[in-house]
Amino acid sequence: MKVKRVGVLGAGLMGSGIAEVCARNGYETVVREVSDALAAKGVGRIESSLAKAVDRGKLVATDRDAARARLSATTKVDDLAACDLVVEAVVENLETKNELFAELDRICGDSAIFCSNTSSLTITELSAATRRPDRFAGLHFFNPVPVMKLVEVVRTIATSDETIATLVDFAKSLGKEPVLAKDNSGFIVNRLLVPYLLDAVRALEEGVGTREDIDKGMELGCGHPMGPLKLLDFVGLDTTYAIAEIMFTEYREKRFAPPPLLKRMVLAGRYGRKSGRGFYEYGS
Ligand code: CAA
Repeated sequence: MKVKRVGVLGAGLMGSGIAEVCARNGYETVVREVSDALAAKGVGRIESSLAKAVDRGKLVATDRDAARARLSATTKVDDLAACDLVVEAVVENLETKNELFAELDRICGDSAIFCSNTSSLTITELSAATRRPDRFAGLHFFNPVPVMKLVEVVRTIATSDETIATLVDFAKSLGKEPVLAKDNSGFIVNRLLVPYLLDAVRALEEGVGTREDIDKGMELGCGHPMGPLKLLDFVGLDTTYAIAEIMFTEYREKRFAPPPLLKRMVLAGRYGRKSGRGFYEYGS
């Protein structure tokens, strides 16, 4: 199937990144947010990232303008009716996602493929909200989307071969490297990454090292671009907490249990970079 028009649900960190790479790679892209203010914020984020790409020599100005022209923002789900492919990237909440998928299922064409960028919910429980489980899969991007090369393509027992082939081609057309993953909570990357991040919080809680030394340990000792506490601030503590809760509920294994310090920080509004404070402090 040839994808021409892409819909993206959610213009947060992930949704705006996904919309940006789609528009940059030639797709007519419509991104939907719940309010005009959030839609404008998402578009602003995309424009800044496009400008950064031009500054870094990754994009020429004419391609930036073409990408911007292919992109539109809306608050109406109905505006996604003509999309061949919809990628959902809203808050990590099953009910919210399923309501949106049920609505889309009514308004989109029969051949449209639906994907979720969920980090931890299973694709099967999301596809159950629709009558197209064969045209439903996971398409999991990584933050920052314009930079990170990987996309996990997640197959459920009901996803068709044709859908997977379309998504693999689609991911490649975005300049990404697809990997195939089974529909287990966390897929490949978060199954390994989340316990590691949670363990870093436990290490801090137990006084194993300072925040700086824990991060430096993994950066200089293992060659990671960011230490775990910086990465937690980058991904968002609230997002990581939600992912850990879902994975713990799924697997009932201690390694996925969010540590008390993470919970306290989320309750205190210390979400990381997005709120100006997490394990580190960030200027506005
Ligand atoms: N568009 C295109 N390219 C861009 C860009 C943009 N908007 N912004 C930056 N780049 C390019 C730069 O040109 C640069 O390219 P070269 O290396 O070829 O020069 C590269 O991206 C790195 O950019 P910077 O120099 O600005 O930044 P940096 O070197 O400080 O790296 C980082 C920043 C990429 C975020 C790096 O620190 C990193 O990789 N961190 C780890 C990120 C990570 O682990 N992400 C996964 C999180 S988990 C997740 O997302 C999944 C989940 O479900 C929770």
